[in-house]
Amino acid sequence: MKRYPFRKPLLSVALVAGLATSTFGIPSSSFAASQVETSVLTKEDQKIVQSVNVNNIYSHISRLSSQPRVAGTPAEYNAVQYIQQKFSSYGYNVQIQPFTFEAYVPPTTLSLDIKDDNTKYTPQALTYTGNGQATGELQYVGLGTEDDVKDLDLTGKIALIERGNISFAEKVLNAAKKGAEAVIIYNNEDGELNGTLGGANDAYVPALSLPKDVGEKLAKKLQDGETLNAEVAVEGSKLETRTSHNVIATKKASKQKKDTGEIVFVGAHHDSVEGAPGANDDASGVAVTLELARVMAKAKTDTELRFVTFGAEENGLIGSTKYVDSLGQNDIFRTRAMFQLDMVGSKDAGDLVMNTVSGQPNTVTDIAGDASERLNGERTPYGQGDRSDHVPFAEVGIPSALFIHEPTEPWYHTPDDTIDKISKEKLQDVAEIVGAGVYDIAKIDRVTPNVKKPKPMKNVSKEVQDVK
Ligand code: BES
Ligand code: ZN
Repeated sequence: MKRYPFRKPLLSVALVAGLATSTFGIPSSSFAASQVETSVLTKEDQKIVQSVNVNNIYSHISRLSSQPRVAGTPAEYNAVQYIQQKFSSYGYNVQIQPFTFEAYVPPTTLSLDIKDDNTKYTPQALTYTGNGQATGELQYVGLGTEDDVKDLDLTGKIALIERGNISFAEKVLNAAKKGAEAVIIYNNEDGELNGTLGGANDAYVPALSLPKDVGEKLAKKLQDGETLNAEVAVEGSKLETRTSHNVIATKKASKQKKDTGEIVFVGAHHDSVEGAPGANDDASGVAVTLELARVMAKAKTDTELRFVTFGAEENGLIGSTKYVDSLGQNDIFRTRAMFQLDMVGSKDAGDLVMNTVSGQPNTVTDIAGDASERLNGERTPYGQGDRSDHVPFAEVGIPSALFIHEPTEPWYHTPDDTIDKISKEKLQDVAEIVGAGVYDIAKIDRVTPNVKKPKPMKNVSKEVQDVK
């Protein structure tokens, strides 16, 4: 993390000097301005820097990541109750918004056997695979594009397809259309392939995946003219209606007379994927959200603040989509900015970026960019990214951005996404930047609303990890 070298000493000098302090017990701006010309921190920045306690953030992560928090499970609800209780203890008005969704339940039976082959296969199921048993000749189909299958009749066959170029869903549908009984997709990079077909579809046949080396070996045999008869069984995968929850903590503008009528959101998702404790994804974002709520609880503000943690993000941004759907036109119109915090604490990830759905700067990247420059002497860069809960907000025209470290840590969506990989320094940095940005908008400095009518965005694609 890069900082102005003089910043921290500046503050401690101020405190030791015991000069005029604001209601938050931090140096007043007149002191900062008169004593140290080089200070670039506003008094609101100073309040944030002084008040954020990274140990609180760390302890929330530790508590939340004691187990995976899969949407719709008791573990997710346990996290919801923890978050609700924390927001309430800071004095917030807290709402719990329940919603139902169709959860994918993985198969109970999953096998691949190849006759006259003594190898033990341990395939993975692609999420949303069809069920069924299939016996047939294995046929190599390249990348499984429309072009690859156009002259083939795959009736009664099991298609072996390499990962790449088009989505897994397209590969499965292309092969199924030509009569394939089942599809096996093998990785084009080392390691297991944990893929998803993106959503349920009755046209899907059983769809399995294999690691690169195993798939390549089979493909080579087929290309060398060998005949391989395979047997595939996938049973018990289904969709199940489950209930998840969003948690919403609201703080109205401090004084009615100063109320600009605007709303600012800080968000994160509290669910995790199966088997992953989700310390970074996204207990880190929830923990920073909780700490910023605590810090802002008693601040004087002219803007409504809403701290929201979403459920079922990992199932397709479901909680945030339901939440945005539940907002009236008036609330959407009044919203100035949405700061989404997702994966903000891994010591094994890269640097902080702010991703907008369009890739263009907006109010959030401008305001937080300014804050980062004051705090660190360097603007946090912005880029394009649409894989988190800022997307539904962007789709209704709300300026929003995802705060994340890139490149992603290797523990993403694995059982190793644990507290020991968390960096307090990174958490502190993000909390300061987002906190200073939010406070910059919310501090009492305007009497008239500054709301521009948002323009809904069109053609926003929801990218899902490992669909290709
Ligand atoms: N925190 C991730 C998003 C992410 C991961 C963004 C790595 C950038 C780099 C999020 O929880 C997630 O996994 N999202 C899903 C998409 C969603 C629509 C299901 C994803 O990216 O697969
Ligand atoms: Zn996430």
